[in-house]
Amino acid sequence: MHIGVIGTGYVGLVTGACFAEFGVFVTCVDKDTKKIKSLKQGKIPFYEPGLEELVQRNIKEGRLTFTTDIAEAVRSSLVLFISVGTPPRGDGSADLSYIEEVAKEIAVNMKEYKVIVTKSTVPVGTGDRLRKIVSRHLNEKVDFDIVSNPEFLREGSAIEDFMRPNRVVIGADSQQAVAIMKDLYKPLYLIETPFVITNIETSELIKYASNSFLATKISFINEISNLCDKVGADVHMVAKGMGLDQRIGPKFLHPGPGYGGSCLPKDTKALLKMAEEHNVELGIIYAAVRANERQRESMAKKIKDAIGRLKGKTIAILGLSFKPNTDDIRDAPSIYIIRRLLKEGAKIRAYDPVFKSRELLLNSIKLSGEGSALSTSSSKLIKFCKDPYEAAEGAHALVIMTEWNQFRNLELERLKKLLSEPFFFDLRNIYVPQKLKKLGYKYFCVGRNLSNSYLQYYETKGFNE
Ligand code: UDX
Repeated sequence: MHIGVIGTGYVGLVTGACFAEFGVFVTCVDKDTKKIKSLKQGKIPFYEPGLEELVQRNIKEGRLTFTTDIAEAVRSSLVLFISVGTPPRGDGSADLSYIEEVAKEIAVNMKEYKVIVTKSTVPVGTGDRLRKIVSRHLNEKVDFDIVSNPEFLREGSAIEDFMRPNRVVIGADSQQAVAIMKDLYKPLYLIETPFVITNIETSELIKYASNSFLATKISFINEISNLCDKVGADVHMVAKGMGLDQRIGPKFLHPGPGYGGSCLPKDTKALLKMAEEHNVELGIIYAAVRANERQRESMAKKIKDAIGRLKGKTIAILGLSFKPNTDDIRDAPSIYIIRRLLKEGAKIRAYDPVFKSRELLLNSIKLSGEGSALSTSSSKLIKFCKDPYEAAEGAHALVIMTEWNQFRNLELERLKKLLSEPFFFDLRNIYVPQKLKKLGYKYFCVGRNLSNSYLQYYETKGFNE
């Protein structure tokens, strides 16, 4: 089978490369000529573990090609995936103009039956809108079907999530379209991946509801961690005790500075907007969004309350991306917290293992609200460092923002000598509090209060005492 994938961002490129790996012939389309040129050379414009090798291998084996010519992709493909951006508008609603533009371009080039698939996260009802747009712009009277096939890829593990998904969701209203999609996903069918075959609206909503529930879980444990700090409970053991209940599950119960990225923040707000338009109250999701905003503010306050006056102080920030194994800083808590620290007159020494674009960081800080007061001269207050130790040089505090593995074995004595004051803010609870305190650090984390080492979690099956 031959498919076209329109849009070569995280979703499109991973979808195209993984289908090619399944043996499908894939034409990836993007209107960005520079991006297509570098993709043709097997160069990926963002960091995603394993993706570069996957793309290069499939280009070499002739199953993956790149073009700016959408007509070519439409002509040669039976299934066309739309995976262009649906960026949030100011009011939180999703901007569908890119999706609709692509639908028009597909329609004018269609000369025979096609299956048009929305892979991007799209508001409920988009499938219906696309059907109308395609019908209106057809040059020839041809049949087509619209399908919703949302992705559940996590940045940093996108290939794994595509190759071994928990489920494949397909929304369609024609048997023929379902049969074609099942044929396309046969390799997953053969490893008994569950398929949820439903109507388009349900499929579109499953995506938003899933991401919003994940966001709610994170905000839930973040709020519990704040209570733990007050009552002397340990949030990791609370999460452990909760997560062993199979109805709750252990995942997405790690406290931190709040969720970021290009999905959870965007999708929760878009779902709230959809609900508002249909006059439906989604109070739980609204509360999760507000709790997330409070969480990053409370992290900035934790730093300020501990250090006191921040003016003129230097803060070392380890980790800028919104999570490990990605270079994506979109809506990352680090942006908000750096902006707050700059606003208090602090200086920043930042290190991230893969994110290197100082300009993008400054623009993100400026774009995010009061950061606009960040004049170009004050941007000199942010120094990019080559490793955690350079970042710590002369800093009054060290803040772990993102739980990169390389931050889990820092040379703590060396760091302490480099810092001008021993403040250590472990916002991802990477370290054991007692260990840092024994080394003389003024250690702060999120909701951890276990001081007696005998209090542990035991797997009773292996329990031999
Ligand atoms: C998410 C969904 O997981 C994925 O299914 C969807 O397709 C896209 O959005 P992603 O945004 O890449 O994926 O990252 P994810 O791993 O979900 O983490 C999102 C944010 O939540 C990160 O900032 C992460 O640090 C934070 N997080 C995650 C927590 O704070 N605690 C947790 O327990 C889990």
